[in-house]
Amino acid sequence: MSETASLPDRAPPLEARDLLKSFVGGDGSELEVLRGVSVRVESGEAVAVIGASGAGKSTLLHILGALDGPSGGEVLVGGRPVAGLEDEELARIRNHHIGFVFQFHHLLREFTALENVMMPALLAGTEMDAARAAARELLDAVGVSGREEHKPRQLSGGEQQRVAVARGFVRQQDQRSTARPPVPAEEGAQPVDGDRDAQSRSGGQGRPRSSPGGGTAPTGH
Ligand SMILES: Nc1ncnc2c1ncn2[C@@H]1O[C@H](COP(=O)(O)OP(=O)(O)OP(=O)(O)O)[C@@H](O)[C@H]1O
Ligand SMILES: [Mg+2]
Repeated sequence: MSETASLPDRAPPLEARDLLKSFVGGDGSELEVLRGVSVRVESGEAVAVIGASGAGKSTLLHILGALDGPSGGEVLVGGRPVAGLEDEELARIRNHHIGFVFQFHHLLREFTALENVMMPALLAGTEMDAARAAARELLDAVGVSGREEHKPRQLSGGEQQRVAVARGFVRQQDQRSTARPPVPAEEGAQPVDGDRDAQSRSGGQGRPRSSPGGGTAPTGH
């Protein structure tokens, strides 16, 4: 039975309740970044998180993506709380149920664009040919199909970001008929229309232009 099949029916792909996050600064003082943030992202919905630099968008997205833990509150992926899970199980949930597009794309330097995009699918056990086909479709969708064999340093900044977008969606592409993992995506990779004055906006028209669709993309700005 697949990981996806074991999740509760009709739970939203991603939900967070009353998130708190504090950091301790260099001078030892406490910095409260998140003060009671709740968000529920439905399948197929695009959600934009917009705010000033330093407001806490990346902090929120890292917590929603189970890359960092909150100081309080909880995150549920497919209805399942991620707090307290062992590292190995967390890594599996991230790979199976979440795609990532980072603010600083974090492509692997020694691998080609195509290999970078294939990587999350290969780690999830997708066969090489299927992973390659999914990666090619996505690179084509983001307009980088002519650069598949280029290493990151041989790509322009924008191309690197688009490869990172393709990588974020590859698990959606290779799970077409089953789960559609949410894709927390950060500034730089995902231009979003909208009202820059709003602190946050939910369920609007902010779908990333390069999204192949069907997924969920909280997007930082
Ligand atoms: N590990 C950390 N330790 C201490 N303070 C941190 C840490 N990470 C982030 N901060 C602080 O938390 C605040 C929120 O940071 P975050 O990276 O979430 O901002 P952001 O909204 O993504 O900003 P940007 O638009 O510039 O990317 C900032 O003031 C930052 O200095
Ligand atoms: Mg940020």
